Amino acid sequence: MNGLFISFEGIDGAGKSSHIDGLAKAFTEQGRAVTLTREPGGTPLAEKLRTMVLNDAMDPLTEALLIFAARRDHLVNVIEPALARGDVVLCDRFTDASFAYQGGGRGFNLGVLSTLEQWVQSSPALQADSSQIILRQPHLTLWFDLAPEIAAARLVDARTPDKFESQPLAFFQKVVAGYATRVAADPRRFARIDAAAERHQVWQQITRVLVQKGWLSIMVAARP
Ligand code: TYD
Repeated sequence: MNGLFISFEGIDGAGKSSHIDGLAKAFTEQGRAVTLTREPGGTPLAEKLRTMVLNDAMDPLTEALLIFAARRDHLVNVIEPALARGDVVLCDRFTDASFAYQGGGRGFNLGVLSTLEQWVQSSPALQADSSQIILRQPHLTLWFDLAPEIAAARLVDARTPDKFESQPLAFFQKVVAGYATRVAADPRRFARIDAAAERHQVWQQITRVLVQKGWLSIMVAARP
């Protein structure tokens, strides 16, 4: 079976987490091996970098470099081996988040982000057959689209906010715009999920996409 790489994106408070867990269960019930992972993070080294990125003040280039260093470690040690085994890789955020948060939110140079993306996601050591170097991207990205005002209201009573979650509304408006630009540049890779809908309707939207692609059976998807 071919490996499948699915990423999940959206602003903080968009409600990705429970649906990612639900999908992991659905794919497992269908007999697929699932690798459930996240960014920044997913390896011991990348989780250390995550702690720094989410808690320590740093200049935007340092932040981008640490995030892409974590991504490289994660790709080499977790994502690529899982895809080679034929797993379904469910990844809570990937490079689109860098374009949205660092590029959109922080206003960091998009050209530098593109260069880092090329280096990290297509350099030879990633692929066994170096004659066929591809730019590793998710096969599908589910974009949980939600107005920042609604997300902020949902996060009010949530745990102590990290460096990004404590940003003002204007930051998240720029993050949403960053995501929208990224979707416009490669619309076929994305499925937009209306994350303002009721939770069970969000689940229906997600499973509809996966059933249409032939990746999830209707029977498994229909279960609560
Ligand atoms: P998140 O995925 O929301 O995890 P949790 O649910 O545990 O809070 O948090 C990760 C944060 O990191 C989120 O605010 C977005 C940010 N981030 C970036 O700024 N750039 C990136 O490239 C990635 C992957 C995440």
